[in-house]
Amino acid sequence: MTIEHETFISNYKDMLEQQLSSSINKLKAPQALKASMLYSLTAGGKRIRPILLFAAIDAFGKNPEMGLSTACALEMIHTYSLIHDDLPSMDDDDLRRGKPTNHKIFGEAIAILAGDGLLTYSFQLIAKDGLLDDHQKIWLMNMLSTCAGPEGMVGGQVADIQAENQELHLKELEYIHHHKTGRLLTYSVMAGAKIAGATDEELDIFEKFSRHLGLAFQISDDILDVIGDENKIGKRIGSDIEKKKSTYPSLLSLEGAKEHLAYQIHEAKATINKTNLKTDLLQYLTDVVAGRDR
Ligand code: IPE
Ligand code: IPE
Ligand code: MG
Ligand code: MG
Ligand code: MG
Repeated sequence: MTIEHETFISNYKDMLEQQLSSSINKLKAPQALKASMLYSLTAGGKRIRPILLFAAIDAFGKNPEMGLSTACALEMIHTYSLIHDDLPSMDDDDLRRGKPTNHKIFGEAIAILAGDGLLTYSFQLIAKDGLLDDHQKIWLMNMLSTCAGPEGMVGGQVADIQAENQELHLKELEYIHHHKTGRLLTYSVMAGAKIAGATDEELDIFEKFSRHLGLAFQISDDILDVIGDENKIGKRIGSDIEKKKSTYPSLLSLEGAKEHLAYQIHEAKATINKTNLKTDLLQYLTDVVAGRDR
């Protein structure tokens, strides 16, 4: 079973990575901009969001390739968020995906513009997709801008910055995590379900599942910032403590954070079990998030 899942993951990861590179290579744009966009896009990365999107389509027995453009758009938005997150005016990090951060190589101006380019271009990819109908495209673009924008990731990033040097309540930290990370993970699963033709009830279950998964994902990111292996995670550890960020380990202790992660994983699995769909791959990916070391 696991071999089957790993084969699915590696096949769709390859397909995604080829498409990401060719989408940038064909752009008629300044060479420095393309090089900067490609640098971060091809630096590695687990591709968990696109894989969740493909897995959600697979749960309905539909062809995951239908989600290829949307998966590229999603990974571009995620990559833009990392480029900007690492800037000196934000988390000021110098290592990402095992390589120097984008601004260390290309300078801040090009790094900011590469992020802008990835963000803007992502919507064009969905708009031009030949496999989806107009109704699906509008739904996908509307939901993507909601999840990535002020009511989603961007709002969460602002709350995260404003919370530096402050002791938060758990509810406030949950807001930050749900927004800065959770909503793009929710999008991954919901977009796949929508592309596959999910009913409103099915979308509700997928949303609930992915809220738990998204929170679990950022809790494990916080834990890895404390106990991770830099060579494996490809970014510096100790960054959160250095910037006096509120995190699950800082609020609940490492053990408390691990317990909360296990709780979110349990709830995610219990939720996705409620459908009659083929959700074994989504369950497997939930276990991957629970046990990740990178
Ligand atoms: C890192 O995301 C930033 C967070 C939202 C926690 P990932 O852990 O998915 O990073 P990559 O894409 O694998 O580099
Ligand atoms: C970042 O959270 C979330 C986004 C980039 C939207 P972090 O700041 O914790 O991510 P890392 O640890 O730098 O990857
Ligand atoms: Mg950050
Ligand atoms: Mg950061
Ligand atoms: Mg982090």
